[in-house]
Amino acid sequence: MKFFLDTANVREIEQAVEMGVLDGVTTNPTLLAKEGRDPVQVLKEICKLVDGPVNAEVISTDSEGMLKEAHRWADLSDNIVVKIPMTREGMKAVRRLSEEDIPTNVTLVFSPSQALIAAKAGADYVSPFVGRLDDRSEDGMELVSKIIQIFDNYGVETEVIVASIRHPMHVVEAALMGADIATMPYAVLEKLFEHPLTDVGLVQFLKDWEKLQR
Ligand code: E4P
Repeated sequence: MKFFLDTANVREIEQAVEMGVLDGVTTNPTLLAKEGRDPVQVLKEICKLVDGPVNAEVISTDSEGMLKEAHRWADLSDNIVVKIPMTREGMKAVRRLSEEDIPTNVTLVFSPSQALIAAKAGADYVSPFVGRLDDRSEDGMELVSKIIQIFDNYGVETEVIVASIRHPMHVVEAALMGADIATMPYAVLEKLFEHPLTDVGLVQFLKDWEKLQR
């Protein structure tokens, strides 16, 4: 399973690159707004840092506006993937972009039927938002499982990005289900490394080694 960071923070991305575990980045308008600086500049910096897909989202709600924005994003760098919301206008834009070989990720997916529609429109990626479903007492990971099963049934090549991840168990469950990608906040990536028994074990090893040196 590929690991994407769900952030527009260049420092976090640099750290994940150093860890050697980063396969791509997803941003959205909220994450870019959080950085408080020119989004085009931020995305240019991210594209240079990351050897993999970098997702930039459109904010237009009509397909013509989305296409214009998509072309502007795609001109930034070869690794841009354009994020398009799961709407009727969005799917018109996805179809056109797929004909132009501009990769797309359909975002704000909350049902299996939406994922199926996105794949039929020609999306390269779909992003089911698991955390936001869990927040409403709906089962986010069950949605992922259904999408994977549907895509497997028909050999659909659209990749499933498990998005809106809140904790390491979302990542582990995504991997058990065979999801293609998990996109996670930096704090979740850090937690994946941790186990108290690793820390205790390391302290003991170092103590024992020190005894040998005396
Ligand atoms: C996905 O690409 C989105 O950017 C993201 O995962 C949204 O997550 P949130 O529900 O934590 O805002």
